Amino acid sequence: MAHSPVEERAMSRALELAQRGPRSRNPQVGAVILSPEGEILAEGWHRGAGTAHAEVDALSRLPEGGAQGATAVVTLEPCNHTGRTGPCAEALIRAGVARVVYALDDPGEVSGGGAERLRAHGVDVEAGVLRDEAADLIGPWLTATRLGRPHVTVKWAQSLDGRAAAADGSSQWITGPQARADVHARRSQADAIVVGTGTVLADDPALTARDGDALHPEQPVPVVIGARETPAEATVRSHPREPLFYDTHDLDFVLADLWDQGLHRVFVEGGPTLASAFIAAGLADRVLAYVAPVILGGPRVALADVGVPSIDRALRLRVTETVALGDDILYVAELRDSAEHNTREHPVAEQHPPATAPTEGAA
Ligand SMILES: NC(=O)c1ccc[n+]([C@@H]2O[C@H](COP(=O)([O-])OP(=O)(O)OC[C@H]3O[C@@H](n4cnc5c(N)ncnc54)[C@H](OP(=O)(O)O)[C@@H]3O)[C@@H](O)[C@H]2O)c1
Repeated sequence: MAHSPVEERAMSRALELAQRGPRSRNPQVGAVILSPEGEILAEGWHRGAGTAHAEVDALSRLPEGGAQGATAVVTLEPCNHTGRTGPCAEALIRAGVARVVYALDDPGEVSGGGAERLRAHGVDVEAGVLRDEAADLIGPWLTATRLGRPHVTVKWAQSLDGRAAAADGSSQWITGPQARADVHARRSQADAIVVGTGTVLADDPALTARDGDALHPEQPVPVVIGARETPAEATVRSHPREPLFYDTHDLDFVLADLWDQGLHRVFVEGGPTLASAFIAAGLADRVLAYVAPVILGGPRVALADVGVPSIDRALRLRVTETVALGDDILYVAELRDSAEHNTREHPVAEQHPPATAPTEGAA
């Protein structure tokens, strides 16, 4: 039986709560505990590695027996393994929760399987509620966990006619100040920022994340890929994080090494050569295309060969955001659909609690 509108609203709230948690190696997860009448009893979210998971955080706000017969609404399937915190599925069972509603399956080999464990203990479980919204929030973590490599965002700025630079190679700036500020804000959420030697030699970029003239507190590690030497005086060498240089074109190798170093969210800001290479290799998960109402003409197209021989083989992306930034437009689009990959078979839930409006502002 389908979930109730109250549960869907609780899931929206759980997604809001999730965003209070830090972006880190662990996913951002939120939880809401509903009474059998549909009132919010408690809320929780995950505050980072080693701390209580969202549903345990929410349960901890209730007195002994306070969750008896309740519904737990969680953005990610309750985990099934004893890591640093103990299995959440077990905590929910012990608390007497009668029903669990969640958005996304946990893709982890050891942490997944919480839903089965709950069902085996007679808990009614429904998966997939607001799955797309949850996937948008933790898509990078899902992709990284599923594929065992960093999540890759490829970003470029282009003219209306699809050029990434003018005929002489100059490209600063195609877009306006709002678009560039947006790039910096998004950069600050990445673990690494990757360019090819071509961009270093042409633009001498700083590869820092800035808010006006100030550096963001969170800085991605700058990464330069390619055989050509980065000059001793290159600005990237004075980045607050130690730059990484890879004298290779082997992108799988680079990603594996970044993964091993704990750099799981990678932002590719190279020129057309590197951007095309990531896309052609099937290693791009998300695209950020900033399109400016500027015409440049000439040969310096934003992407070169990406392995599409004819229109029927075009890479068709799923647009998740279009953002007007002054006169420019940002397209955020997924090449790989994290929600689509979150489709484990689920038995249909048997019952759900009555559709009563949740209490406003409950703890
Ligand atoms: N509009 C934008 O968003 C934007 C962004 C950045 C740059 N740009 C413009 O783009 C131009 C530079 O373009 P670009 O294409 O030369 O820059 P790039 O893509 O950053 O660098 C290309 C270089 O990367 C290296 N590389 C590393 N892995 C590779 C692989 N798997 N396949 C191929 N090459 C690989 C190669 O260098 P080696 O030969 O040294 O091995 C290659 O020549 C400049 O005009 C710059 O202003 C525009």
